[in-house]
Amino acid sequence: MLPWLNSDRFPLYLAPMAGVTDVTFRGLCKDLGADVVVTEFVSAEGILQRDDRTRHYTDFEDGQRPLGVQLFGADGVRMGEAARKIIDWKQPDFIDINFGCPVNKVVSKNGGSSLLKNCPMLAEVAREVAKAVPIPVTAKMRIGWDAQSINAVEVAKILEDCGIQAITVHGRTRAQGYTGQADWEVIGQVADAVKIPVIGNGDIASGMDVEVRRAQTNVRGIMIGRAAMANPWVFQEAKQYLETGVHATPATVEQRFAFMRKHCELAIARSNRGGEFEIVRSMRSRLMGYTRSIPGGKFLRGRFGQIGSLMELDDILAEYQRQSHRFHSRPEPDEDVPA
Ligand SMILES: Cc1cc2nc3c(=O)[nH]c(=O)nc-3n(C[C@H](O)[C@H](O)[C@H](O)COP(=O)(O)O)c2cc1C
Repeated sequence: MLPWLNSDRFPLYLAPMAGVTDVTFRGLCKDLGADVVVTEFVSAEGILQRDDRTRHYTDFEDGQRPLGVQLFGADGVRMGEAARKIIDWKQPDFIDINFGCPVNKVVSKNGGSSLLKNCPMLAEVAREVAKAVPIPVTAKMRIGWDAQSINAVEVAKILEDCGIQAITVHGRTRAQGYTGQADWEVIGQVADAVKIPVIGNGDIASGMDVEVRRAQTNVRGIMIGRAAMANPWVFQEAKQYLETGVHATPATVEQRFAFMRKHCELAIARSNRGGEFEIVRSMRSRLMGYTRSIPGGKFLRGRFGQIGSLMELDDILAEYQRQSHRFHSRPEPDEDVPA
């Protein structure tokens, strides 16, 4: 049912990231080697209320397949209805249920990772959604609510019994947020405990990371999130490393600049929510993210903090190139860049 997880394949997924993995970024990562992509999470209630903005989050192009739409909610029947509605609009390859979101707004309504504390409700959500739709349903979860209640193996078995066809495990608890390190030992335990494919997620940033985690565990694929925000080439770099054992040459400054421009241009062309200024302004933190491994990145981040047009982007990049002799050959520490 999920052909990209068949025996000899080992897909690299682009992680769902709210505010990041929109239709434009998904397409760009697909071009750079991401095998499977997932939309950012959308509220089942938003879908049922035919909220245009929510619907916009589920938008995708056929070239992005295989693609999953990720739903969150606390009522399995309503989520099943929302999933059917999405399928009526445009049939994704799978529906993914979010059991990992740590943010209070979601958790306080019993959505996301809060369901890890309530296994009967989690089972009900999974069962109802799986029953409601004719396409595969997968789930993404954290390893537990906090360090005292790590229950990923138990939850994974429940999900398998409820008809979920693959599970992505982010190796952190809800309490950790994005701090500390992902616990790949627990991810490995989950992969050993269920028959359905498990995709491992957390702190993967290179082909070597993929290789190590693949060797250590029985995961059937890897999902990459934050590393792709800074370095969307990570997918093709990882594939090259896995195939040849040779580390890929990192994208050059010129390639990064061309990518930044392309990302802004596509975002402007696709936007139905504002003109060039609004879109470029909304891209500021994304542009800053792309400077993480560039010498003189700090200079660029300072400029990107004010940017509002493509012309300014060109001017900043030209200024950077004129002044490139000033910059060290190594990137500076980048604590000022939002993760
Ligand atoms: C900005 C941001 C937004 C995220 N939004 C979602 C989301 O909508 N759904 C989800 O399941 N996980 C979301 N996540 C979690 C990621 O999918 C992923 O599990 C996490 O970043 C760990 O993987 P990484 O170490 O490769 O980044 C988000 C993470 C970030 C940084």
